[in-house]
Amino acid sequence: MIQAAIFGFGNIGSGVATVLEENAGQIAKAVPGGIHVKYILDIREFPDSPFADRIVHDIDVILSDPEIKVVCETMGGKEPAFTFSKRALEKGISVCSSNKELVEAFGPQLLETAAAHGCSYLFEASVGGGIPLLTPLLQNLAQEDIQSVTGILNGTTNYILTKMERYGADYGQVLKEAQELGYAERNPAADVEGHDTGRKISILSSLISGKTVKFDDIHTEGITKITPADFVRAKAKGYSIKLLGVSRKCSAPDAPAGIRMEVMTAPFLVPEGHPLHSVSDVFNGVLVHGNMVDDVMFYGRGAGKLPTGSAVVADMILAAKSIGHTVPIQWEAEVLETAASSDCTNAFFVRMHAADAAKVHAAFGDCIDQVWSDETDAEFVFVTKPVKEGVFFDCLQRSGEALSVIRML
Ligand code: HSE
Repeated sequence: MIQAAIFGFGNIGSGVATVLEENAGQIAKAVPGGIHVKYILDIREFPDSPFADRIVHDIDVILSDPEIKVVCETMGGKEPAFTFSKRALEKGISVCSSNKELVEAFGPQLLETAAAHGCSYLFEASVGGGIPLLTPLLQNLAQEDIQSVTGILNGTTNYILTKMERYGADYGQVLKEAQELGYAERNPAADVEGHDTGRKISILSSLISGKTVKFDDIHTEGITKITPADFVRAKAKGYSIKLLGVSRKCSAPDAPAGIRMEVMTAPFLVPEGHPLHSVSDVFNGVLVHGNMVDDVMFYGRGAGKLPTGSAVVADMILAAKSIGHTVPIQWEAEVLETAASSDCTNAFFVRMHAADAAKVHAAFGDCIDQVWSDETDAEFVFVTKPVKEGVFFDCLQRSGEALSVIRML
């Protein structure tokens, strides 16, 4: 039997406890004797919880117990999660995290600490909630040159966008629902402003490149400017609107050091027939393109107590089976230069006032791919061909004030 501890008994931490308890028989098939939660670290008391007797408030109780071999870090945020994780790893205790903020900021450092102390730092649950994604990417696709990753990576925003598209639901009301369902971050701005997706696409980009792609270096937009009118226009042409994390390798001829990446987070119009078009509600979908295997799609619940708890437990099982050595994850601290957003290439959907149509034609010329409105319309709606973003925004500036600008996949 493996003795374990949980750092942080919130939504995900209590999900981990439930998965370990309810699926104990199943887990014991993978780890002889199973995984037993000996301690739960939290500043709060949980008198009504069946785990009340395992709550401790002092991390040293856990770190000084030689029986503890694995902990899960489900605290969220950078501190004290970083200090606690590092101290556990320095004791040779493997750490399994769902904390994307911490993984994005300190992944390489914590991996190095784990390697130096013969234990593992694992973070499957930090991206894609319950979807087995990072382990397949690092193991089953290790032979591939991954050329792109395109993902719906945030359950909260996908839930909100789905309800707005299908039922014309009110943004604020649906956000409240997502919070009640345990999908949203403590501060839901991290979801709706795209920061959560941004951190997840940074982690994925780092893992496929083996270097560090910093969240702070990538263009990040959320869903707060999407309006019901955008959905109406998009739907009429067979498109859905999704918040995507996009990461593409590019060998731009003008790139100074060979391969660079285009990485961004933004809402995109996704056409019918694209595998991500039908990914709805809290579900996430991640489309990976390898140079040999072609497209591989991962799909599942991107948020929620039990799905995310399940992904954490998958790592705890892997850590328990790997005691005595480090599960290798290639991720160097060296920062990888990503393309400036003005150098990224995308097609755009634009809504303007009809009065600006002539200026749009003059500025964009041949870059206009299709016009989606007619002469009777109060708006001039058009989509562009793929164009460098710097060029696009330059043309837009000469066209008047846009009602809406959304990228197209
Ligand atoms: N708030 C996140 C989401 C939780 O909605 O996807 C899972 O990372």
